[in-house]
Amino acid sequence: MDLPFSESFKIKMVAPIKKSTKEERLKWIKEAKYNLFNLKSEQVFIDLLTDSGTGSMSEKQWSEMLLGDEAYAGASSYYKMKNAINSILGFDYFLPTHQGRAAENVLFSVLVEAGDVVPGNSQFDTTKGHIEFRKAKAIDCTIDEAFDTELEYPFKGNADIKKLEKVFEDYDNQKIKFIIITLTNNTAGGQPASMANLKAIREFADEKGVLVIFDSARFAENAYFIKKREKGYENKTIKEIVAEMFSYADAMTMSSKKDAIVNMGGFIAMRDKKLFEKASMYNIMFEGFLTYGGMSGRDMNALAQGLDEGTEFETLDTRVRQVEYLGSQLIDYGVPVQRPIGGHAVFINAGKLFHNMPREEFPAQKLGIELYKEAGIRGVEIGAILADRDPETGKNRFGGIDFLRLAIPRRTYTNNHMDVVVAAIKNIYDRRSEIKTGVKIVKEAPIMRHFTVELEEL
Ligand code: F0G
Repeated sequence: MDLPFSESFKIKMVAPIKKSTKEERLKWIKEAKYNLFNLKSEQVFIDLLTDSGTGSMSEKQWSEMLLGDEAYAGASSYYKMKNAINSILGFDYFLPTHQGRAAENVLFSVLVEAGDVVPGNSQFDTTKGHIEFRKAKAIDCTIDEAFDTELEYPFKGNADIKKLEKVFEDYDNQKIKFIIITLTNNTAGGQPASMANLKAIREFADEKGVLVIFDSARFAENAYFIKKREKGYENKTIKEIVAEMFSYADAMTMSSKKDAIVNMGGFIAMRDKKLFEKASMYNIMFEGFLTYGGMSGRDMNALAQGLDEGTEFETLDTRVRQVEYLGSQLIDYGVPVQRPIGGHAVFINAGKLFHNMPREEFPAQKLGIELYKEAGIRGVEIGAILADRDPETGKNRFGGIDFLRLAIPRRTYTNNHMDVVVAAIKNIYDRRSEIKTGVKIVKEAPIMRHFTVELEEL
């Protein structure tokens, strides 16, 4: 008999989580104005809101925390992080930041001006927010295959070179300074971009004379999929694949709360000394001195260790297989999800699940509310609420798919928890025809409204 797969860790510390009654949940979600971000974590049983900063650090990461050097300038922790970034990702220059959006804020302060255009695959909401806040335009050039959730296509995170070409035709070349590639493509379902695509983007950018920047939050999961799905990479280590991926980028932003498995932290890395010097000024202004930039020494130590562990095959295999474990059961029950299952989350196509619900009633948010009521499970809407209104027309952007994302924190939940999630979704799926109306917005912010939006059930 073949031995089955099992996790490449054992559990050393646990935290209790509490179940609640349906009556309690109905009351709490109403008090939260039907915005899942407003729930207290103790009101949540299984928290799949995000995989960002919610993972469990290893014993080596915790031991690194005690060795943190908290010197204001020149801390050894800074050099530990610098060495890890240089040896694993291949960049000579880096700036620590407190998280990913801070890296975007600092780098875009140098690179983005009003009227600019920033094409790429799907830009994450903070990336888009930092671009639009500067009165520039973010253009999503993800391949069409990504928008057909049923289609099994190995690299739905790819950017379409033809669409990129069109952006360069439509806009003055002067307005485009860089292409940003998000790895994995979070918004499209945690879907990877292939090495061939990254290489083609590099060649295209060189032709046009623009930079390539990777938004690298889940770069290691992207490398895992390249190893699993792209010919020629099956025998390479994750670290070899990562090194090649980043060889195609001029700079990167990183939310280390994902694939570097820390609770807080981020950075910018780049090859060009001039860019580093320009960004340094903003880093000092917004984040902190160059050798800590918004992070404590202990967090930089844990991050350096996390970058190493997070690019080990066993860590990634355990992680991605758990996401697949959840997703494949939902597929078996007929629940419409983005396929193939992505790296960090299962994305349920709520527009399809509630196919009679108008998009104006935000079906993915409705599904998130139902799932919370059913079992105390918290997901997040990745759909029209998250997409914000078009800053020019003021209209809701209904161009994308209404997903409910179930993001799995790293090394945190067991497959028994996943079984609870499957059962809860199956129950909602079975009574989907009884759920005919969604929600309406009663209060919203002009940018990144999903965090604070207030809603009513219809
Ligand atoms: N880029 C991507 C692709 C992300 O997924 C995120 C965050 C960021 C940038 C911003 O990083 O949170 O450290 O400031 N994503 C989280 C999520 C919040 O739930 O997907 P941050």
